[in-house]
Amino acid sequence: MRKYFIAGNWKMHKTASEAVALATDLVKELKAGPHKYMIAPSFTALDAVSKVVKGSNILLGAQNMSTDEQGAHTGEVSVLQLKDLGVQVVILGHSERRHTYKEDDSMINRKVKLALSHGLEVILCVGELLEEREAGKAEKVCEEQTRLGLAGVSLEDLKKVTIAYEPVWAIGTGKTATPEDADAIHAFIRKIVADMYGAAAAEAMIIQYGGSMKADNAAALLAKANIDGGLIGGAALKADTFAPIALCK
Ligand code: G3P
Repeated sequence: MRKYFIAGNWKMHKTASEAVALATDLVKELKAGPHKYMIAPSFTALDAVSKVVKGSNILLGAQNMSTDEQGAHTGEVSVLQLKDLGVQVVILGHSERRHTYKEDDSMINRKVKLALSHGLEVILCVGELLEEREAGKAEKVCEEQTRLGLAGVSLEDLKKVTIAYEPVWAIGTGKTATPEDADAIHAFIRKIVADMYGAAAAEAMIIQYGGSMKADNAAALLAKANIDGGLIGGAALKADTFAPIALCK
C-alpha cells in the first residue's frame, strides 16, 4: 500500500482551545493511520497543540515564518521560535501568502533555505491563478515557482522538502482539479525537479495536491501515480471530514 503525506492547513480558523480539541480527536482517530500526517494550526495555538501531538504520529506544522532568524521584525515569528515550540514542518509560499500578502519568490526562497538550515521540513506551495490557467500559463507559473523556490537548496536538503501543487482557483472553492489534470501538473513539476536534481531525487519527491480535496474525491486523486498526498484546508477543520482523507488506502 502506498504511504501518503496528508497535511491539514488550518489557516486562521481555530482558537488555541478549539485547536487543542481538534488535535486531541485527530491523535485518537489517526493513531493507526498508515500514512504521514501533519497539522498546522495558527501560531497562537502551536504551544498548546504541540503538547497534544507530542509522541503521536502527527507532525506539528506552522503556516509561515519570518525570512530572518531574529531581530527588529515586528509581528513576525522566527524559525527559532517555531523550533522552540516543537514545530517540525513549515508551509511556505502558500498562494494566500503570495497573492494576499505579496510574498515574492525570492522571499519564499529565503524562508525555504532558512527553515531547512534549521532542520525543519518544508512544504513549498506552488500553483497558478485561474487567469494564468486560462491563458495556458499553468506550467510556466509552476515551473517558475518551483525553480525559484528551490534555488540554492542542496540535494541533501531536498529530502526535507515536499511540494504542494495548489491551483489557486481550486482553493476553498469546491472546484477541485480533475485527477487527470492534477496528475499531469504533478508529473510536470516532477520533471522540473528531475532537471534540477536528477531522476532519483524527482522520483523520491513527495508532491501533494491541495485545492478542495475532500473525502469524496480523495481516493480518485490519490490513485494517480504522481499525487503523493494532500494539503487540506476546509476539510481539515473537523475530525470527521479530515480522518476519511487521512485514512484513505
Ligand atoms: O493549504 C491548503 C489549502 O489551500 C486548500 O484549501 O479548503 O481548498 O482544501 P481547501
